[in-house]
Amino acid sequence: MRLLFALGSVFLPFLPGILATKQIPVVNGIIGGVPDPAGVPSDGKAFTPLATTPGKLRVVENSGVCETTPGVYQASGYGDLTSTQSIWFWFFAARKNPDTAPLALWFNGGPGSSSMIGLFQEHGPCRIKNDSSTVVLNPTSWNTEANVLYIDQPVGVGFSHGDTVVGTSQQASSDVWKFLQIFFADARFAKYQPNPLALWTESYGGHYGPTFAAYFLKQNIAIDAGTVTGKKLNLKVLGVGNGLTDPLNQYYGYIVYAGSNPYHTLVSSSTISSANTSWSSSSGCKAKITSCYNGGSNSVCSSAQSYCNNNILSPLAGNWDVYDVRHTDPDPYPPDFSTYINSVRTKIGAEVTWTQSNSKVYSNFANTGDWMRNSAPDLAYVVNSGVRTLIFDGDADFIVNYAGVESMVDALQTQFSTAYHSQAWTPYKVNGQVTGQYKAAGTFAYLRIYGAGHEVPAYTYGNLGYGQAALQFFNQITFGNDLTST
Ligand SMILES: *[C@@H]1O[C@H](CO)[C@@H](O)[C@H](O)[C@H]1NC(C)=O
Ligand SMILES: *[C@@H]1O[C@H](CO)[C@@H](O)[C@H](O)[C@H]1NC(C)=O
Repeated sequence: MRLLFALGSVFLPFLPGILATKQIPVVNGIIGGVPDPAGVPSDGKAFTPLATTPGKLRVVENSGVCETTPGVYQASGYGDLTSTQSIWFWFFAARKNPDTAPLALWFNGGPGSSSMIGLFQEHGPCRIKNDSSTVVLNPTSWNTEANVLYIDQPVGVGFSHGDTVVGTSQQASSDVWKFLQIFFADARFAKYQPNPLALWTESYGGHYGPTFAAYFLKQNIAIDAGTVTGKKLNLKVLGVGNGLTDPLNQYYGYIVYAGSNPYHTLVSSSTISSANTSWSSSSGCKAKITSCYNGGSNSVCSSAQSYCNNNILSPLAGNWDVYDVRHTDPDPYPPDFSTYINSVRTKIGAEVTWTQSNSKVYSNFANTGDWMRNSAPDLAYVVNSGVRTLIFDGDADFIVNYAGVESMVDALQTQFSTAYHSQAWTPYKVNGQVTGQYKAAGTFAYLRIYGAGHEVPAYTYGNLGYGQAALQFFNQITFGNDLTST
């Protein structure tokens, strides 16, 4: 079904071995595998763009698509970084008090995956229905109280188009910063620049979030010092869901989670034990990631990705859906929305056929080994700079599971770490319904969400509605408050 899907998208060329219909591509059967660079053609987005306007936005206002709440402003379009590099965005004003509300940015991961996934499957103003062809207004949309800006990046991803050259999270951060300079220079959006800025992301966003946030803060310092010209970004919040940040502390989590999680073991004990050997043997996964961390070249980090995903991540998934282990693979939920989004493409001003994941971008990243580099130092820098930070994880997700994420959080070294380590778990409740457990210290918190897969806001738990728990923690953190049960 997934293969047919990839072949059915007119503009996605047939890429031997790369299957990119969910957030993280499968390469020759290996989840997150490393493709042979020679086998990856261009991204296939051959088209005649409308005239670009480098350094400016091109915008369609109030298309009427998705956000149908009367009086709520929306805009979609492109920020042209150059005449051949255009970043797609979709902005939704808050349903309440947009002028004073914080502005939240949203990035999906991949690398190479579109942020339209978050919009239509997770927390946008509308959500795709199970029929995959219609949408329904979402009462737990993140723009209930915040302004939300969805961005397809790097260039080449989703509706973004042009020269597809970015291959590291660091390179991606400077393009996103440039895009935001263009966005805030526009008369329609300049008024949001002084508002608190929040950066929310998931999955590969465990790299993107800390890297982008640290870059934004350093650019602010450089602007103050007069070495960079630009508008400062008022970054106050970082939220990362089910994120890969520190592979050395997270990969053993696959071995732990496959054998012990709230649902069922994923594979036989012999498969677990052989993955454990692949982890700890002298030239195993742990040794390879360690070499990558110790100044490893692109090829050292890339081969760590290949080895660890071949011998640990992929075999431990068994027959289960890696994004929600309660279901066998493939879980049809959250529903696919490619046909729907392409049917509204021209109305919203998008210029290329949408695909969920761009194999060329994925391949660029796989070749630098960016996957296996450590984003924990950037995360610590962001936390220590006073940016309120929430790390959260849905407990039914295998691909970036809570066992690994909690090890990453425990290993983090920040001004709050000692206080964090002394905390006991606190239940997290929404309207009296327990929906997770958390620890918090200073402006840092970690939250494990029950009954949620990789895309946490897509799920329901107990008597809560879809995305209700996610909206509560999103609002609490985005408005600068601590997590609090209700
Ligand atoms: C992995 O192997 C080590 C010994 O090398 C052992 O201590 C540990 O319990 C094993 N882990 C699992 C989850 O089986
Ligand atoms: C959509 O499908 C999921 C399972 O794939 C199911 O749990 C859910 O109830 C369905 N939603 C509706 C509204 O039918």
